[in-house]
Amino acid sequence: MGAQYPSYGDQVNTESRRVWQHPPMPSFYRRYILPPLLDRAMSDRRISRYRRPVLAPASGRILEIGFGTGANLSHYPESVQQLEIVEPDVALNIRARRRLEKSSREVIVHALSAEQLPFDAVSFDTVVSTFTLCSIPNVESALREVHRVLKPGGQFLFLEHGLSPESSVARWQHRLTPIQKVIGGGCHLDRPMRSLIERAGLNIESAGYEERYAPKLPKVVAWLTSGMAKKLVD
Ligand SMILES: C[S@@+](CC[C@H](N)C(=O)[O-])C[C@H]1O[C@@H](n2cnc3c(N)ncnc32)[C@H](O)[C@@H]1O
Repeated sequence: MGAQYPSYGDQVNTESRRVWQHPPMPSFYRRYILPPLLDRAMSDRRISRYRRPVLAPASGRILEIGFGTGANLSHYPESVQQLEIVEPDVALNIRARRRLEKSSREVIVHALSAEQLPFDAVSFDTVVSTFTLCSIPNVESALREVHRVLKPGGQFLFLEHGLSPESSVARWQHRLTPIQKVIGGGCHLDRPMRSLIERAGLNIESAGYEERYAPKLPKVVAWLTSGMAKKLVD
C-alpha cells in the first residue's frame, strides 16, 4: 500500500492541528551525500541484526520517530499492518519512498520533529526509536513527548547508540561528537541513553534490556542500548 512521501515544495498534509512549516533546504551534503551514507550505515548487518528483536513486541497504534530511510520497515512483525512515522528530514525521502512502495503496510507520514508532536496525549500503544535519540537536537523534549503520547502501560521500544561506560572510550566520544554532528546529520556519540529515557519518566523493563558493543565496529559508535520502557499506569 505504501504512503505518499513528501518532496521539496509539496504541500504536506501532516494531519496536524499545528501549521506544518517546511524545513529549510539542507546543504548539498545533507541533501545528496548524507542520505546514501546513512542508508548504508543503517542497513549494515552489524547493527540491523538487532532491529527485529527490539521491534517484536510492537502492537496496537504505533508511532516511529525518526524514520530515516525506513530501515526498520521490513523488521516489524507480520501482525503490524499500519504505523505512523515522524521524520523531519525530507532529504531522506527518496530511499524511504522506495521502501514504502515495496511494503504492504500502510504508513502515515508526518514530516515534522519529534520534539513537538501533534498527537493527542495518551493515544499510542507503542512508540519506536532506533538510532534516532542521538540526532534529535532537544532529545529531552522528544522523550517528554513520547511519554505524553503513550497510553498508560504503553511501550517505548528503543535501539540506540550512546555513551560508553568505558572512560577511555567515553573521552573519545566527547572529543569526536562535534565532528560527528557535522558529518552525521546532528548525531551525538556521547548521549547517556539509559538515563535520558528514565529521566523522561519511562520505566525500563529489565527483561530484554541489553547494553553491549556491536561487534566489528569502532567502539565510539558501537555502544548499543536496547529494550522496552513502559509508561507506568498511575
Ligand atoms: C541515524 S538516523 C536513523 C534513522 C532510522 N531511525 C534508522 O534506524 O535507520 C537518525 C534519524 O533521526 C532523525 N531526526 C533528527 N532530528 C529529528 C527530530 N527532531 N525529530 C525526529 N527525527 C529526527 C533524522 O532525520 C534521521 O532520520
